[in-house]
Amino acid sequence: MTAPLLEVTDLRTHFLTRAGVAKAVDGVSFSLAPGEILGLVGESGSGKSVTGFSLIGLVDPPGRIVGGSICFAGRDLVGLPPEEMRALRGRRIAMVFQDPQATLNPVLTIGQQMALALQAHAWVSDRAAAERAAAMLTRVGIPEAASRLSNYPHEFSGGMRQRVAIAMALLNGPELIVADEPTTALDVSIQAQILAEMKALARESGTALIWISHDLATVSSLADRVLVMYAGRIVESGPVGEVLRAPRHPYTRGLLDSLPAMAEPGQRLRQIPGTAPSLLALPPGCPFAPRCPRADAACAAPPPPRVESDGRLFLCHHPLEAAA
Ligand SMILES: Nc1ncnc2c1ncn2[C@@H]1O[C@H](COP(=O)(O)OP(=O)(O)OP(=O)(O)O)[C@@H](O)[C@H]1O
Ligand SMILES: [Mg+2]
Repeated sequence: MTAPLLEVTDLRTHFLTRAGVAKAVDGVSFSLAPGEILGLVGESGSGKSVTGFSLIGLVDPPGRIVGGSICFAGRDLVGLPPEEMRALRGRRIAMVFQDPQATLNPVLTIGQQMALALQAHAWVSDRAAAERAAAMLTRVGIPEAASRLSNYPHEFSGGMRQRVAIAMALLNGPELIVADEPTTALDVSIQAQILAEMKALARESGTALIWISHDLATVSSLADRVLVMYAGRIVESGPVGEVLRAPRHPYTRGLLDSLPAMAEPGQRLRQIPGTAPSLLALPPGCPFAPRCPRADAACAAPPPPRVESDGRLFLCHHPLEAAA
């Protein structure tokens, strides 16, 4: 087995607000091999984005990493001086956001900003930068890329803009890309196309990918492994096929049941009953217990982690049956 590229151990990112401490990420551990694609799923507010921002060192106050480690290529990123983190970001670790406006500068042409991104980390001539930029735009499916380098972001459609943002992320050949719902705002056919491209690019270049999404269908077609997040914790993880075919955690089951494709024709879409708990005052036991159909008195105590032979891990006192 190859050494992991990324090893996250007991990561805790808390928001110190006036109302109290919101434990947005509270004891998250996972590892990622080079070239591996990891899906990170969960309901809104479960801590997916805060996990992603923690990895790239972009948690804004009042948020703070208060514990744990993020070991990337043998180095702990927690507590790394900001200038060293900046040097890693964009070169060895890149991020794609849901909104490409977060990445793209409206007053520079695409060619100018791609050249800047390349030249920030190495000496590259303008001409070579333009060639690399055009080649990368072509790879993410932008037609006549060379002639589009002189366009500004607003001259691209939403889908094309997101492709440009993805090309920017890929530009320096990063070892890790954190993608936070990058296709959610796009229409379904473009989504599928971008997913296929991202997967091919990750496979070709050996780039590891963390794909954050609330959409299990997307993740099932893309990822090797999946992490299921609830109230700041990973409540189930494992190979994507096994986890989604036969979830052990009732929360994962609930997420699957709320997928449109899972509903019987003519049936209403089911939602997980109840609402996500306040991260300011989590119960001492299983955080999902108040909403869980299987919960009983045992769930007032923290569920111990259980590991199975297929690499599956889950936190539940009363798991669903394993697949036969
Ligand atoms: N700036 C902030 N101030 C206070 N609390 C915050 C802040 N940002 C995030 N949080 C807390 O962190 C929790 C997790 O937020 P996060 O954005 O990671 O959720 P998410 O899983 O990405 O949800 P979504 O699917 O809606 O994007 C929030 O529910 C909130 O309690
Ligand atoms: Mg989010």
